[in-house]
Amino acid sequence: MSLQPYYEESYQSENNRSTAELHSEVTTYSKGLYHFAIESKDRFLPEADWSSLRILETGAGRGGVALLLAKLGAKVTVVDFSPTALEQAKNIFALEGQDVLTIQGDVTHPDLTLPEQYDIIVDSHLLHCLTANPDRSSYYQLIRDHLTNRGIFVAETMVHRKKLFIPDGFMIDETNTLWQMFGKWTPIRRILDSLDLEQELNNAQFNIIYFYYYGQYGFVPHRSFMDLPADILPAAVRMVLRKK
Ligand SMILES: C[S@@+](CC[C@H](N)C(=O)[O-])C[C@H]1O[C@@H](n2cnc3c(N)ncnc32)[C@H](O)[C@@H]1O
Repeated sequence: MSLQPYYEESYQSENNRSTAELHSEVTTYSKGLYHFAIESKDRFLPEADWSSLRILETGAGRGGVALLLAKLGAKVTVVDFSPTALEQAKNIFALEGQDVLTIQGDVTHPDLTLPEQYDIIVDSHLLHCLTANPDRSSYYQLIRDHLTNRGIFVAETMVHRKKLFIPDGFMIDETNTLWQMFGKWTPIRRILDSLDLEQELNNAQFNIIYFYYYGQYGFVPHRSFMDLPADILPAAVRMVLRKK
């Protein structure tokens, strides 16, 4: 089941906010992953100039990381299935005079074609939104098809911990899928155990070249989980992958 209408409605509900306000929010929020992308580039693509790099941000939303990387001189493309998110992203890019290509599409759709291959693909919190197969395996295939041979996939995603608190209106099943009740139970997040995530990435034909578990970090899967202590929220993993 596609969650496109769920995300679309959530972005539409913020159409009344000014571009300046959204710009300030996304650039602040995106700084952590932006710095991780820079560290990853310096470590795994040390010879490359930013101006020579083609970068894709998947599930970019308003494109915060993309904007910051475009300002380093890289040629940046974003993909998301929410037209409203991409409209808001375009306004934010225009505010800074940055030329970022926006593509509307579903990353789990096998027919999605992107115009080129990329040296860096950044995933800021998309992977855990893909709750089941074949969606997750189609996404991995898209990444493999669009990474150059030297290219790196840089991602941050939420992972499971034993003591998770699940508020009313949500439930988690034995596959670590988080469901939300709106009218009917709907799967909204896949919160894999970090060891299972590693296994899944191996099976999807990736070499894991960096994988770090942030146990002290509390990931908020939905605004209903806000204000909970970090140790009863999902943890985070930052990782860098290359194609096998
Ligand atoms: C949790 S949000 C993260 C947004 C942004 N990257 C960030 O870190 O703030 C997930 C984003 O992925 C997009 N998305 C979810 N599933 C998608 C899919 N199958 N194809 C394309 N975009 C998707 C949503 O529209 C949303 O913008």
